[in-house]
Amino acid sequence: MRVIRVAIAGFGGVGRATANLLLARREHYRSVYDADVRLVAVCGSRAGLSDANGLEADQFDALEPGLSGPDFIGTSGADILIEAGPSDFRTGGPGLAYIHSALSSGRDTIVISKGALVHSGRELRDLAKASGAILKLSGASAAALPTIDLVEHSLTGCRVLSVEGILNATTNFLLDAMVSKGVGFDAALKEAQKGGFAEADTRNDTEGWDTACKLLLLANFGLGAELAMDDLVVEGIHGVTADRIDAWRAEGLVPKLVGSLECTDDGTISARVGVRAYPNSDPLAQVSGKNKAIRITTDAMGETIAIGCGEEPLATAAAALKDFEHILKARVA
Ligand SMILES: NC(=O)c1ccc[n+]([C@@H]2O[C@H](COP(=O)([O-])OP(=O)(O)OC[C@H]3O[C@@H](n4cnc5c(N)ncnc54)[C@H](OP(=O)(O)O)[C@@H]3O)[C@@H](O)[C@H]2O)c1
Repeated sequence: MRVIRVAIAGFGGVGRATANLLLARREHYRSVYDADVRLVAVCGSRAGLSDANGLEADQFDALEPGLSGPDFIGTSGADILIEAGPSDFRTGGPGLAYIHSALSSGRDTIVISKGALVHSGRELRDLAKASGAILKLSGASAAALPTIDLVEHSLTGCRVLSVEGILNATTNFLLDAMVSKGVGFDAALKEAQKGGFAEADTRNDTEGWDTACKLLLLANFGLGAELAMDDLVVEGIHGVTADRIDAWRAEGLVPKLVGSLECTDDGTISARVGVRAYPNSDPLAQVSGKNKAIRITTDAMGETIAIGCGEEPLATAAAALKDFEHILKARVA
C-alpha cells in the first residue's frame, strides 16, 4: 500500500471541511486506490500542525503558533498540497507563494482559492509542466458545479463554441429575490444581509469579479486561452432597478448574472460578465436561489447544461477531493 501525504494551507471554513472529509474517506482511499492517505500538515496564517504519521481531527483546535508558510509545508514531506487560503486576484497572494513553492518542487497541487490562478495562471501552468506536478482547480472554478471537468472529460474532442455560466451563488440568490419580490438591488441586498443570506461586503460578488475570476479560469485552464482580467468586460448587478425587473417580467424574461465566452473560428476567445435576461422556458431561467449553472455549446455534441450546488463549505471540500481522487488515479494506478 502506497503512503500519500497531504498538506492543507489555509485552515478556515473550507480548509477544515476538506481536512475532515479527507480523514473520513481514508478507508475509501485504502480500498479503492490501495493508498494510505495521511494528513501530515495544516496551517493558517500564523499557526499550524504537522505530524509525519498523520494528524487526527481532534488535534485541529490546538494549532501551534509559528507553524505556517510555504517552507513549513515544504518540510512536512507532503506529496500533495491543498491550498485553501484567501483569494486576491489583484496580487495572487497569499496562495501564490504556496502554490509556486509546491509546483516548483514537483508536488501535485489542488487549488481552492482563485487569486493566484487568475494573477499568475500561465506561470503556474508552466511550472507544473516543467516539474511534472499535477495542478487541479475544481474548487476555484465553481466547485460543486463541474466546469473545467466537463470540457476536459465529458466533451473531449469537441470544439467549444460558446459558454454561458451562472457562476456566483450570491448574485443568483439576489436576482431571484429581486424578481420574486419586485424590488431593486439595494432593497434585495439589505434584506439578504438581514436574513444572513449575504455577507456584509458582497462587492466581489455583486460587481461581477467572482464570476469573472471563474470564467477566466475556465477559459485559460479549460480552453487554453491566455486571458488577463483586463481583457474581460465586467458588469455586476448594482444597476438592476425595480423598474427594469418589472419590464423583464412583463416580457416573460428572467435576469441572470452570466459569465460568457465566445470562441471564434480563428481561436480567439472573448469573455464578458453581465446581466442577461432569459425566457422562462430556458433552463438557465429556472436556476433558482444559490444554485449555479453552465451551458457549453460545442461543434459536435450540441448543448450541454449542468446545474447544481451543495451546502458550503462541504461542497467545495468535496470538489477539491474529487481533484484529489483524480490525482490518486493518475499516481497510484
Ligand atoms: N466558503 C466557501 O463556500 C467557498 C467556496 C468556494 C471557494 N472558496 C474559497 O476558499 C478559500 C477559503 O475560504 P474560507 O471560507 O475557508 O475562508 P476563511 O474561513 O476566511 O479561511 C481562510 C484561511 O486562510 C488562512 N490564511 C490567511 N492567510 C494565510 C497565509 N498567508 N498562509 C496560510 N493560511 C492563511 C486563514 O488563517 P487565519 O485563520 O490564521 O486567519 C484561514 O485559516 C477562499 O479563497 C474562498 O474564495 C470558498
